[in-house]
Amino acid sequence: MRILLGITGGIAAYKAAGLVRALSELGHEVTVLPTENALRFIGKPTLEALSGHAIDLDLYSDVSAVRHVELGQQADLVLVAPATASFLGRLAGGIADDLLTNAVMAAKAPVVVCPAMHSEMWENGATQRNVRELQSQGVRIMPPASGRLTGEDSGIGRLPEVEDIISFALGPMTLTGKRVLVTAGGTREPIDEVRYIGNSSSGRMGLEIAKAARDLGAAVTLIAANLESIPAGMEVLRVSSVSELEQAMNRGSDLLVMAAAVSDFEVANTYRGKLPRSQAPKIELKPTKDLLAGYAAKHPRTFCVGFALVETGGDIEKTARQKLWDKGCKVVIGNSSKALGATETDVLFVTADEATPLSGSKGTVASEIVSRVSQLLVSQGN
Ligand code: CTP
Repeated sequence: MRILLGITGGIAAYKAAGLVRALSELGHEVTVLPTENALRFIGKPTLEALSGHAIDLDLYSDVSAVRHVELGQQADLVLVAPATASFLGRLAGGIADDLLTNAVMAAKAPVVVCPAMHSEMWENGATQRNVRELQSQGVRIMPPASGRLTGEDSGIGRLPEVEDIISFALGPMTLTGKRVLVTAGGTREPIDEVRYIGNSSSGRMGLEIAKAARDLGAAVTLIAANLESIPAGMEVLRVSSVSELEQAMNRGSDLLVMAAAVSDFEVANTYRGKLPRSQAPKIELKPTKDLLAGYAAKHPRTFCVGFALVETGGDIEKTARQKLWDKGCKVVIGNSSKALGATETDVLFVTADEATPLSGSKGTVASEIVSRVSQLLVSQGN
């Protein structure tokens, strides 16, 4: 594969040497295109030696060959690693003021960008807006890793390791063309105009699953029940109660991942207005519909994934397996109630044929779940 590797001016530019070498060793033809500032962090001779190509960054040399168009259009993949905040801003804003931005904008190939910067800059509203804009244009953004940053501090913002960049950029886009519906968060059932019965789901697992599906090329619709921050690069439907969630789910999909914590009860005697303290009501509850079971019955071709929250000490495999049949799912992710609100998690990936434990951060476990589900989806011909 012909890879155009853009390198921008951050300290992580030194890691690009390892990336050029690893990509070349995998048999790819790598054309390296550093920015002027990248060359303050890594030497031109190093990149020329590793890639086997001379580097000329002048946009105005050899103009008749229209080099920026040629560079962009000859590539089968454009990879920019590391990408600075400034690069993200210029690309998102369409400002082509050096050879790299010109070449990326002229490229027809998929573009993968790996941002690396200090946590504060990554989390800055302008950077996040630029990331969303680029994702909406189809650019794949690899989220930065967490760990030691340039100075004494650590946090999110590190350039991921070379092997991780390669598997993100070159890994199979197994969900391309698939419509994936993910529900996340926790529903709220109104008692009166201002009070509700809710649950303590953080929604984190559902959000990570939606991101993992997006990164495998799926067209993701995220149905977010009472969630604040939403990942970029997907359609979002915001809901609150079980009945709103049910309405939002009224659409077809190739894959449904039902990660939302759906209330099992709703209030039968909802009060119109705000109940005064003097009128403490007796709340009557009635069961809600089982949305997952209803969806699976109505959409028999959809690959449905459910969750089972088992109380601490309960038999996770048995409960998850029972829910496979009860709800018409192909996969049930069993977890224990101790996972609620935590960042690390241990789950059991249960199908009719297997029960595989997965553990790690919710992001890592979500990626593993989505990758396993996408393999099952492909092997079952969905
Ligand atoms: N679920 C649903 N509709 C409901 C309740 C739950 O679609 N009214 C979904 C959840 O999103 C989850 C799965 O069903 O994917 C299992 O949820 P869980 O609360 O663990 O199980 P319940 O169906 O509530 O069963 P139980 O009462 O045995 O806990």
